[in-house]
Amino acid sequence: MSDNLSAVGVLGTGVVGETIAARLAELGHDVLIGSRTAKSDRVVTFADAAAHGHLLVNATGGLVSIDALTAANTAGALDGKVLIDVSNPLDFSEGFPPKVLATDRESCSERIQAAFPQARVVKALNTMNMALGVNPRSLPATHSTFIAGNDDDAKADVRALLRTLGWGDEEILDLGDLTGARGLELYLTLWLRLMGTVGGPTFNIHVVRD
Ligand SMILES: NC(=O)c1ccc[n+]([C@@H]2O[C@H](COP(=O)([O-])OP(=O)(O)OC[C@H]3O[C@@H](n4cnc5c(N)ncnc54)[C@H](OP(=O)(O)O)[C@@H]3O)[C@@H](O)[C@H]2O)c1
Repeated sequence: MSDNLSAVGVLGTGVVGETIAARLAELGHDVLIGSRTAKSDRVVTFADAAAHGHLLVNATGGLVSIDALTAANTAGALDGKVLIDVSNPLDFSEGFPPKVLATDRESCSERIQAAFPQARVVKALNTMNMALGVNPRSLPATHSTFIAGNDDDAKADVRALLRTLGWGDEEILDLGDLTGARGLELYLTLWLRLMGTVGGPTFNIHVVRD
C-alpha cells in the first residue's frame, strides 16, 4: 500500500463507519469520520473527512450514497482518491429484513463511479458483517472476500489494505471491473437469508477451487 494512504476519510457514522474507523486507527491510520454535521474533532463534515483522506471509504447506505458523496466532493475532494465502496442498496422503509434493491444491470458502485468519474471506486467488504470484514482472523477458517473496480492500481491499494486487516492474499478474489459489484450487491439477498439459517451475522462463505 502506498505510504500516502495512511490518512483515511471514512464517510459514515453508522456502526459500519465506526467499526472501520476504529480498526484502521488501531492499525495506525490517521482517520477522520464524515457526517452531515460535524460533531467532534474526530467526526467532521463529509467534506472535511474527504479532504483529509488520501484513501476514502463510503460507509453510507447505498440509497443515499450519492447525496453523501456530493457533500463530500466539495472542491473536488474525491478527485484521484481511492474510494472503497462498502455500500449495499438496502431499503429499510418497511422494516427488517430490508428489501435488496440490487439488479444485474447496475450497482451502487457504478452509479457512484459515474457520478464522480475522477474517483477510483473499488467495491470491497460489502458481503459480510463489518466486524468480521475488518478482523477476518476472528473466524477460525479460510474464507473469501471480493474486490471489483476499473483501476488496477486502486485495486492493488485495496488488496494491500485488506492484507493489513488480516486477509490472506488467496482469500481476496478480484472480480474484475466495477460491473463485478452487481453480483456483490445481489448477494445480499442470500446473505440476509443465510443470517436466519445460521442464526446470526458472524459467518462468511469460502470459495473452494480445484
Ligand atoms: N452492517 C454491516 O456489517 C455491513 C457490512 C458491509 C456493508 N454494509 C453497508 O455499509 C453501509 C453503512 O451501513 P451503516 O448501517 O453503518 O450506516 P447507515 O446507518 O446506513 O448510514 C449512516 C450514514 O449515512 C448518512 N446518511 C443517512 N441519510 C443520509 C442522507 N439522506 N444523505 C446523506 N447522508 C446520509 C448518515 O449521516 P449522519 O452522520 O449525518 O447521520 C451516516 O453518516 C450500508 O450501505 C450497509 O449496507 C454494512
